[in-house]
Amino acid sequence: MFELTKLVRPNILSLEPYRCARDDFKVGILLDANENTHGPALSELSETEKILELNRYPDPHQHELKQQIINFRNSKPNKYTETNLEIDNLCLGVGSDESIDMLLRCCCTPGKDKLLVCPPTYGMYGICATINDIEIVKVSLTIPNFQIDIDAILQKVTEDSNIKLLYLTSPGNPTGKLINVDSIVELLKQSYSKWNGLIVIDEAYIDFTAPNGSYSQSMSTLVNQYPNLVVLQTLSKSFGLAGIRLGITYSNKKLSKLLNSMKYPYNISSLTSNVALKATAKEGLAMMQNYVDKIVEQRSIVLKKILDLKYVGKNLGGEDANFILVEILDKNGNPSNEIASKLYNTLAVDNSVVVRFRGNELNCTGGLRISIGTEIENKEMLYKFEKVLNELNA
Ligand SMILES: Cc1ncc(COP(=O)(O)O)c(C=O)c1O
Repeated sequence: MFELTKLVRPNILSLEPYRCARDDFKVGILLDANENTHGPALSELSETEKILELNRYPDPHQHELKQQIINFRNSKPNKYTETNLEIDNLCLGVGSDESIDMLLRCCCTPGKDKLLVCPPTYGMYGICATINDIEIVKVSLTIPNFQIDIDAILQKVTEDSNIKLLYLTSPGNPTGKLINVDSIVELLKQSYSKWNGLIVIDEAYIDFTAPNGSYSQSMSTLVNQYPNLVVLQTLSKSFGLAGIRLGITYSNKKLSKLLNSMKYPYNISSLTSNVALKATAKEGLAMMQNYVDKIVEQRSIVLKKILDLKYVGKNLGGEDANFILVEILDKNGNPSNEIASKLYNTLAVDNSVVVRFRGNELNCTGGLRISIGTEIENKEMLYKFEKVLNELNA
């Protein structure tokens, strides 16, 4: 049975969040935070830099930004959504990488507790777990569709009570495949009565997934209905803002309060929130959708052309993210890590085209992952890709 207070580490449950004088008093001669009140050590300041008062600590709460983010997500409910998100459901971080780490620190005692992942999956889960001395347990995604094996997951988590978190990527990386929303809801319901752990859905690529009719495929609007659900998103992909480092954790209000207490008070810089506020306002959202539409259109063009090439086998992954995962063959028509890694290397070293070799990931033999670029970039990539692949198999 799920019980948050028994899942979270006792030191986190009793944590008193850092408070500053600025939480209570915001105007006047501000001499409370040991800032440099002369101003930033910059010889020239742009108008924006002046307005941002960069000599001052940033807002630890970011209510305006949170409100814009939930306005956007609430306008696109999932078919199961019954309630609206509120700002208390959100915790903002330095990219979703911070959220991945913070959830581990919140729920897992180093040297004792475990994290369940479903490979092939995103590499940072394993790295963060190792840094935190958390053992990793694995249940593979099913093949060929890279979906979750609900029975195998339930068996694993019920036979080992030290497993505290399950990290799923949907759409997956490197699979590019959405995990069926009905299956996730099924897992949330079944695990609630059997397991005291959180199901964390990393939705870094969710905006590249086709909606289900008029419904979004995002699970983010369901966190008030399922206390054992956490959803991660980021501005690094669809919003084209990997450089500002802004990640979003959606969870029920009790957990969200704990995560907000845990985060470093000033983790979101004034520069980051200023850009994020523009990107999540009306004009920014329209631009994001425009880019997503272009990438989705290019994704099917690139995939079709690449699958027509002589030494490319099947599309290993799905069409739900801003990349594809294709199978590279040797001259006998067999999936080949040797040819795939040589192709990766030659493209990068001699042709200035960098893709990603993923052939060593579970059930991805011969796999190359290719991000979808602009039309011009994709054309050049395809031209060089075909040339090098033919040469390697000649
Ligand atoms: C599945 C997944 N989650 C999270 C991230 C990292 O996101 P961020 O840039 O917000 O840290 C990536 C980046 O590639 C990713 O593929």
